Amino acid sequence: MSTPDLSTPDGIPHDLLGAIERLKKERNAVILAHYYQEPDIQDVADFIGDSLQLARAAQGSTADVILFCGVHFMAETAKILNPTRTVLIPDMQAGCSLADACPAPMLARMKAKHPDHKVISYINCSAAVKAISDVICTSSNAEKVVASFPADQPLIFAPDRNLGGYIAKKMNRPMLLWPGTCMVHETFNERRMIELQLQHPGSKIIAHPECEPSLLEKADFIGSTSALLDYVEHSPASTFIIATEPGILHQMAKQAPTKTLIPLPGIDETCACNECPHMKRNTLEKMYLALRDMKPELTMDEDLRVAALKPLTRMLAL
Ligand code: 13P
Ligand code: SF4
Repeated sequence: MSTPDLSTPDGIPHDLLGAIERLKKERNAVILAHYYQEPDIQDVADFIGDSLQLARAAQGSTADVILFCGVHFMAETAKILNPTRTVLIPDMQAGCSLADACPAPMLARMKAKHPDHKVISYINCSAAVKAISDVICTSSNAEKVVASFPADQPLIFAPDRNLGGYIAKKMNRPMLLWPGTCMVHETFNERRMIELQLQHPGSKIIAHPECEPSLLEKADFIGSTSALLDYVEHSPASTFIIATEPGILHQMAKQAPTKTLIPLPGIDETCACNECPHMKRNTLEKMYLALRDMKPELTMDEDLRVAALKPLTRMLAL
């Protein structure tokens, strides 16, 4: 006889995974998760991806409910692309330092000062910033998006100065850069990176373009989270020093089980500052509660949604 699943005093069942599965079916919900989520969240998700892959998955979803395990701007993007679905986020406080660094009224002032410039905004921004941008990009397609403008078109790139600077240098295409940074990728420990490389001859340094330029200069490969995953799987090298949020190591270990994966620590090696505190706000308990109570729900003013959809559609059409 199976033992009954007695709930804890706060109403969270002991068999959380079973309860999430059950609610998912009842609600006709799909769970989308970013690679930076905790392994247990990635394992329960229906789809795992980087920002671009998740935007496409949200756009194409036919489920009634999208439970978005990522951060606020990602859930917002899902709502912009698929407004008839109920979009839930386990923790509404899961923000992003890049999105916070670029308030829409300040970007509007920069635009007004440079009326001949077109604005490319990295998807890590608010819906209000998207609404005043000409096109959106992610770390997977930033080069393609920049190349879609004529060579003589002046450009503003917001809000990530590191991604913008990396693309500008690679493409020899100067752009006005908004001075935002990712609080995780700007703090990697470069001294430790060099030590690790010396300790592991033949290892490859792989980095996300949100990292600081001095680190990117030393990297063997630079790419979005999905590009880094692909590189680890297909590279002939056996050891990788990884300069991005360590949540990605879960899928890397699954897809390349024989490889040695070394997450690069932050400047203060005693803290977990290479982990995104926003991404890590989401938990299985919060996912269960979101599906049970159908909240927190992400809602959006329709005029704002329509304005933000335009630059997103332009990106997805590329
Ligand atoms: P990608 O998912 O595009 O690699 O971006 C990483 C990131 O920082 C998401 O917030
Ligand atoms: Fe934002 Fe950086 Fe966290 Fe990504 S890792 S959500 S860019 S703070």
